[in-house]
Amino acid sequence: MTTLTQLPDDYVQNPHHVHDMLRAEGPVQEVHMPRGLKVWLVTRYDEAKIALTAPQVSKNIAEGGHLMAVHSPDTDQRREIEPTLAVHMLNMDPPGHTRLRKLVTKAFTARRIELMRPRVQEIAAELIAKLNDGDEVDLLEAFAFPLPITVICELLGIPIDNRDDFREWSNQLLSFGTPDQVQAAASAMAGFLFQHVTAIAQAEPDDTFFSALVHADDSGDRLNTEELISMAFLLLVAGHETTVNLIGNAVLSLLRNPDQLQILKDRPELIPASTEEFLRLEGPVNVATFRYTREDLELGGVTVPAGEILMVSLVAANRDPAKYADADKLDVTRSAQGHVAFGHGIHFCLGAPLARLEFDVALTQLLDRFPNLTLAAEPETLVWRDSTLIRGLHTLPVRLA
Ligand code: HEM
Repeated sequence: MTTLTQLPDDYVQNPHHVHDMLRAEGPVQEVHMPRGLKVWLVTRYDEAKIALTAPQVSKNIAEGGHLMAVHSPDTDQRREIEPTLAVHMLNMDPPGHTRLRKLVTKAFTARRIELMRPRVQEIAAELIAKLNDGDEVDLLEAFAFPLPITVICELLGIPIDNRDDFREWSNQLLSFGTPDQVQAAASAMAGFLFQHVTAIAQAEPDDTFFSALVHADDSGDRLNTEELISMAFLLLVAGHETTVNLIGNAVLSLLRNPDQLQILKDRPELIPASTEEFLRLEGPVNVATFRYTREDLELGGVTVPAGEILMVSLVAANRDPAKYADADKLDVTRSAQGHVAFGHGIHFCLGAPLARLEFDVALTQLLDRFPNLTLAAEPETLVWRDSTLIRGLHTLPVRLA
């Protein structure tokens, strides 16, 4: 067992060397997260995949939610999220998960996503048109954030005027706020979504995604209002906090590796395939969402007892040298297939095709219009957001050219 039981204070600023240390010692360790929560953290690739699919492991918040209080010394960690927002598929095991996922999959078809490409291109082009050579901007604020939030708001039929509210609420909810702020944000979001869902349910069905979801019917089975609110909440948060940071992290990696940037400028047709390498190297989800051991689980010779919180670092698994050679190196031509940046098993990211589409469009247009963009800050001064879930920067200052 490891001697490191408390993750260092600067863990979110530089998680990779901590992961390297833990991974070298064993596949899974009992550690205290930065705010004190005691968890079992998985850092090796093979064991990560086992932990994400093992039948001894549950995601059912109703069953395992109380473990947060049991394993946390800090009352901040014990807060309960607004119940209306929590009945979504990422908090469920089969059969509840299977039912919700089936209903949403009916509305979220690959065809519907691909049909969005021209609109995503248009949104990206509009954002880029507002930027000029010589400008120094925060690329997250000016480009990486508005693109996915506009797309997801349009998918859900939410007026774009509410975009800033959503950004604020989801920021608070991803644990950047105090317990009171989190509660206030959750209530505000639940209230807004209730009105939105009710309005769509009363309107005539049309061919938009959210209307299809509200009216989705699986042999008479439908989503009720609470389930629709939770689903919309999950899609909103999962749909933008991640893609923003995939774009930001990828641009940072490229600016720090000019040889790799040059390859993509010379051969932009490689961009779609290179998406997988950016996801692997610095994916926007560090530690996947909470899981609970329902029974003892053996992981690479270590037994995680029943009744524990299990966390899987996707970022650590994706840099496991046993899976990828030169795992810390960006290589836009490598085949990064098999990475777990979108998770693994039944909770595999539902939005992966949309995220890949948005990333492809974003990077293609950005490099085409500003091939000589540079970092406008020393890399060491960049600050990562204080979250173990989201791996993303606060700001990404760049000079456009
Ligand atoms: C689930 C990553 C974009 C919707 C997940 C999970 C991961 C992930 C790791 C599984 C979490 C776990 O098992 O604990 C990402 C990344 C994205 C991205 C890296 C962008 C680069 C999106 C988008 C949407 C979305 C654009 C929707 C529009 C979802 C949903 C789930 C999910 C609904 C839950 C699936 C289930 O429980 O069956 N995502 N995601 N994601 N994601 Fe994404």
